[in-house]
Amino acid sequence: MGSWSTALVLLLVGVTVVYTTPLVNEKQPGQEWPKRGAVLQPSDDKDTETEPETIFEEKSEEEAILDEIPVKTIEDSSEPVKEKQDLDNTDNEVDTIKTKTVVIKSETASPKVDYSGAQLWKVSIEKEGSRNILVRLRRRNQIATWGTNGTAIDVFIKSDSIQNVTRALNKENIPFEVVIEDLQKRIDEENPPLDENEAELQDRRGHRMNWKQYHRLEDIDGFLDYLSKTYPATVSVNAIGKSHEGRELKVLRISNGNPSNKAIFIDGGIHAREWISPATVTYIINQFAENFDGESEDIRKLDWYFLPVMNPDGYEYTHLNDRLWRKNRRPGIAGRGCSGVDLNRNFGYRWGGKGTSSSPCSEIYRGPRAFSEPESRAVYEFFEKSAANYVAYVTYHSYGQYILYPWGYENAVPPDHDDLQSVGDKMASVIQSTGGDYYSVGSSSKLLYPAAGGSDDWAKSQGIKYTYTIELNDKGRYGFVLPTTYIENVAKESLAALRVLAAQVNKE
Ligand code: ARG
Ligand code: ZN
Repeated sequence: MGSWSTALVLLLVGVTVVYTTPLVNEKQPGQEWPKRGAVLQPSDDKDTETEPETIFEEKSEEEAILDEIPVKTIEDSSEPVKEKQDLDNTDNEVDTIKTKTVVIKSETASPKVDYSGAQLWKVSIEKEGSRNILVRLRRRNQIATWGTNGTAIDVFIKSDSIQNVTRALNKENIPFEVVIEDLQKRIDEENPPLDENEAELQDRRGHRMNWKQYHRLEDIDGFLDYLSKTYPATVSVNAIGKSHEGRELKVLRISNGNPSNKAIFIDGGIHAREWISPATVTYIINQFAENFDGESEDIRKLDWYFLPVMNPDGYEYTHLNDRLWRKNRRPGIAGRGCSGVDLNRNFGYRWGGKGTSSSPCSEIYRGPRAFSEPESRAVYEFFEKSAANYVAYVTYHSYGQYILYPWGYENAVPPDHDDLQSVGDKMASVIQSTGGDYYSVGSSSKLLYPAAGGSDDWAKSQGIKYTYTIELNDKGRYGFVLPTTYIENVAKESLAALRVLAAQVNKE
């Protein structure tokens, strides 16, 4: 009987191993990533429309639409009920700024959003009541708010709203400054093509990445595959899932294979338009992978997991259709209605709380339930199955130059916040001495605004100690449309900061 049960156990183990083996496996033999057994996934009940227990507080739509504006503004504002009701109509394009749409022949032959005449302003919020004016303008779909430094808010204005917004601010004597005259012009100048020598260079390199341009997803994926083929002893690539539109979510691992290593997970491109983020993550990958043996011991002692583009559909959409798209590409209901979920409001810790919206039209739409999106769910499932010992999680966004730690859902900090602050301070100071940029350090709810369902809060809730959201350059001169000439310096600074983090986790 003993031998039968042994055989049965062996059979079960065998089945489990086969079952948990990744679908797409481009890894070399001996490069299996450490895995735990399969676990029940939230996607297993994805057909139920009931919302999970992770909803803690239902917040008002008023809060929901105020993405980048500090929460005080929201609480201070007393808006007439009628406007509130207008906003509850989810069939309206509540937060999505509509601009003139012209048909341009692109690869997808779908219309490309034209930002001609749209502007970026810095609007002072020092005068009492100025935030409320902005809140109202935003409600009326006249502006979108991009970023804030505490004394001013970066305000995006579509061309046919400029007159109205000018009048409204002048009437209240609210100071503002035009930072970008014509966004389309900036977009057109942002990512210029390279000279002809580049093609030849690419052939010699074996991939197309150069960190002098913002690249399409194909180049990034090709680069990851190139590295795993070129350095099979240390680099491996695995698709952890697929996006709404079926694009692979590729994770690259760099490791010396020592099973007792600590691990760091890094991602980029959660928000589609923040192009500097995947550019920075791929730069870091390149530094580690191309010269792993020559790297410092702090780097070589760790297992590195990189997901450079968590939102590949959105990323491609910003290249082909709308440069300023933020969310993923979840389709709208029945082909009408608004599309896209903010993946950084879709993670399952305190999902549905402050700074999120239940309206599919909102830029901060949290989705129908926690981990409703294939992109965030793939990350969740990856962590559930991974047996790596994660000690740090870093997610790159833009812009504002912030090193942020949890909590994001509410103005509160975890018990070890002193450690997060002091390591953050060290990273900021090495950034400043590396490339000269100033980063502020603090909890994200305090330094920015409360926003629940972020990937950082979720990672922290899973027990990953050093969890940071890094908002890369700049501070609002170019905003999301950062010229390519910035890439190298920004990425170099972030690499220096990451070395500080690596040294820290190795010390503990
Ligand atoms: N700009 C980021 C966002 O709005 C900041 C996220 C900070 N983290 C957080 N959990 N709120 O998504
Ligand atoms: Zn972002």
